[in-house]
Amino acid sequence: MRILVGYASAHGSTAEIAHRIADVLQHPDWTVDVVEVQKIADPGSYDAVVLGSAIHNQAWLPEATEFVHHHQDVLRARPVWLFSVGMSAGLPRWLRKQGRAAQDRRMAHALRDVVRPRGHHLFSGAAWPEQFPRTSGILVRAMGVHFGDYRDWAETEAWARDIAAELVRYSRAETDHA
Ligand SMILES: Cc1cc2nc3c(=O)[nH]c(=O)nc-3n(C[C@H](O)[C@H](O)[C@H](O)COP(=O)(O)O)c2cc1C
Repeated sequence: MRILVGYASAHGSTAEIAHRIADVLQHPDWTVDVVEVQKIADPGSYDAVVLGSAIHNQAWLPEATEFVHHHQDVLRARPVWLFSVGMSAGLPRWLRKQGRAAQDRRMAHALRDVVRPRGHHLFSGAAWPEQFPRTSGILVRAMGVHFGDYRDWAETEAWARDIAAELVRYSRAETDHA
């Protein structure tokens, strides 16, 4: 089975999450490619796809959204998992739950309904003040966001292990079907 882990990352934290997911998706019968979305040549050549993007201004990066829309037929025809990387863990506590729920609703509308993935996970990434344009940086600070690296590798690996287990079941069912 060929598995694609595609990602869009502006400052690298999503890329590292994609690589960690790929590290967990190990099986003697699988090959796993980790590729930046803009460099994915033929998503149709993969049997399963895990695709993630950093969130900027409450949406996936444009190249990732474009990829999903452009390849929606290919993606819908195979098992797909999506992940988003934002900063909900850096929000003040009273805003966190609300922020995650709003992000989830937006994802459903923008992408989940398009590719019908088997799962979507919202991770917290890493953000530093110098990554923000001046005006939005001021706004982000005013909201009380704490900058830092909020990636949770145990959470990342657990999510990837669930995908691996589902892929084992999926490939068994495909073999029985053939
Ligand atoms: C310009 C900018 C806008 C951002 N907008 C959001 C946002 O709307 N919601 C959110 O949860 N995180 C937002 N973030 C935080 C990033 O999603 C987070 O830092 C993520 O880890 C970035 O991934 P990357 O390092 O792969 O680019 C923003 C970050 C930047 C730099």
